Amino acid sequence: MNETAPRSRPWIGWLLFGAAGVGVFLLGMLASSVNDRRAESVPARLQFMQPIADYEADNAKWGQSFPREYNSWESTKHLDENTKHGGSGDRDYLAENPNLVVMWAGYPFANDFKQARGHYHAVEDVTKTGRLNEKTPGTCWTCKSPDVPRLMAAKGVAEFYAAKFHDFDKEVVNPIGCADCHDNKTMALRISRPALKEAFQRMGKDIAKASHQEMRSLVCAQCHVEYYFKGKKEKYLTFPWDNGLNVENMEAYYEKSGHVDWTHAVSGAKMIKMQHPDYEVYSHGIHAYRGVSCADCHMPYKSEGGIKFTDHQIRSPLYSVQNSCQVCHRWGEDEIKNRVQAIQDKNKELLTRAEKAITAAHLEIGDAMKRGATDAQLEGVRKSISKAQMDWDYVAANNGMGFHAPQECARILGKAIDGAQETRIQVAMIRAQLGAPEPLTLPDVGTKEKAQAFIKPFVAAQKAAEKAKEEAEKARAATKPAKVVQR
Ligand code: HEC
Ligand code: HEC
Ligand code: HEC
Ligand code: HEC
Repeated sequence: MNETAPRSRPWIGWLLFGAAGVGVFLLGMLASSVNDRRAESVPARLQFMQPIADYEADNAKWGQSFPREYNSWESTKHLDENTKHGGSGDRDYLAENPNLVVMWAGYPFANDFKQARGHYHAVEDVTKTGRLNEKTPGTCWTCKSPDVPRLMAAKGVAEFYAAKFHDFDKEVVNPIGCADCHDNKTMALRISRPALKEAFQRMGKDIAKASHQEMRSLVCAQCHVEYYFKGKKEKYLTFPWDNGLNVENMEAYYEKSGHVDWTHAVSGAKMIKMQHPDYEVYSHGIHAYRGVSCADCHMPYKSEGGIKFTDHQIRSPLYSVQNSCQVCHRWGEDEIKNRVQAIQDKNKELLTRAEKAITAAHLEIGDAMKRGATDAQLEGVRKSISKAQMDWDYVAANNGMGFHAPQECARILGKAIDGAQETRIQVAMIRAQLGAPEPLTLPDVGTKEKAQAFIKPFVAAQKAAEKAKEEAEKARAATKPAKVVQR
């Protein structure tokens, strides 16, 4: 009889069905209220926010209302141990790679080039670098401090750039912080630097229309980009993006503008130093293609006491693989790190090949000069080595050792190696015409010290020639008969 019992009470089924329906309805109500609260969460934060003055550069003042973001931001002062190719510890690129000294002969980078550290050290590090001199313009402060927007507002943007770096020694004191990326009233992400807005305008784009996800990369693109100082006196910070963001676009831009950063002290080639085109290289990678932003990897969400917030300890994501990568990738932590390193090792191998070939080409051109090659004879090889080095530098100067866009980096390094070896063939022919025995025995530039000692006489000769030229011009101006009006 037991078997028939359930059948005799069909209302239980209906009751369960009804109860389940009510349950689903209540859960729905709860979910929607959670969603509402999440949407409210930013304004709710703002309700308790202490007012922050316009152009407030003191990060601690912002921190009063946002302790978690502030504390994690402050942690960028910690110097973690290096990862294989990155990190924020000490890394002297010139000692690791003495060829760079020869490649930059005549340019301040040959004196000093260290690995970047956390944002907290930006002001300290720029004042300590061996690349500063009395001619360094105000422009060099632009990507170091939230005091910069304040000074630009007070003095004018063009005036700020055209001033001298040391004019602002006492004014620029706060390292990269809140005001660089946030609006002081709404805490929304904002672009505080004019150069990025201007670059967008020249490309016919309106940065105000960028999506929220795009802004999570564009705040970084204010500084992590290739740039140059336009105008001998103006030193106006400019991104060479008019034709687009790839290396060919930039080379075409520079060729048209005629801009040159320095003349190579050994080979006499007119050179351009790429800075750190992180945003540009990233734009060519799979993550940008899939809409993953810089902040997704470098500023992941983190939980503390049940409160979710954005981790402001911006650094190598290899220290935070769980939060930075495993939200999307279901691979183990070691596997993720190994995959990153495998990409980076290959990039490093290609970089080294390019560096060897480019260094040899500069030295061989220098030898041809010693044997009496004329500027006209060397014009072609100087141009091609300059281009090969620009290609190499677009990859070398970008951070992440190729990870942000592995295939694009490999393509460009392929071009750089090809360009350098092609140059060497041309130089070999010029040298042969001048009766040089082949091949040239390259000097030993195997350590930073040896390389710096090797370039020293070349740099001194270049400086002396420049000085002589200046003096000859002065003398000419002095002996020129003053405009004597004789009637
Ligand atoms: C998919 C994740 C991801 C995205 C997106 C991403 N990065 Fe990275 N980034 C990495 C990894 C991984 C490294 C290598 C870290 C290492 O070698 O220790 C790195 C390295 C760096 C470094 C050097 C850090 C160091 O310690 O050597 C900088 C600077 C950097 N990225 C800036 C950016 C910027 C700016 C953007 C956006 C334009 C960006 N990254 C987008 C994952 C990412
Ligand atoms: C380099 C840029 C950058 C700097 C510097 C920076 N932030 Fe942020 N901040 C971000 C980004 C990106 C987000 C994520 C915003 C989003 O997706 O809406 C964020 C989010 C926030 C939020 C929203 C809540 C959260 O945790 O997601 C607060 C509040 C905040 N930051 C406070 C600060 C404070 C305080 C400072 C200075 C101590 C600071 N930020 C410095 C880029 C920055
Ligand atoms: C106002 C300019 C500026 C902005 C905005 C900025 N950076 Fe930086 N960033 C720098 C400078 C300058 C350094 C090098 C600091 C040093 O070495 O003292 C740096 C260093 C770094 C490093 C290396 C840190 C380390 O410990 O190795 C990473 C990673 C990085 N930035 C990522 C980002 C990301 C991601 C964003 C956007 C969310 C961003 N930065 C926004 C200027 C900026
Ligand atoms: C927001 C999601 C997201 C995050 C965060 C993310 N990735 Fe990815 N990653 C992707 C997507 C999407 C792809 C492309 C996969 C595809 O389309 O097949 C990808 C591809 C990759 C690839 C393959 C690249 C290639 O060229 O074949 C590697 C390696 C990788 N990610 C590593 C990382 C690492 C390391 C991190 C953390 C530092 C990270 N990802 C963070 C979404 C993400």
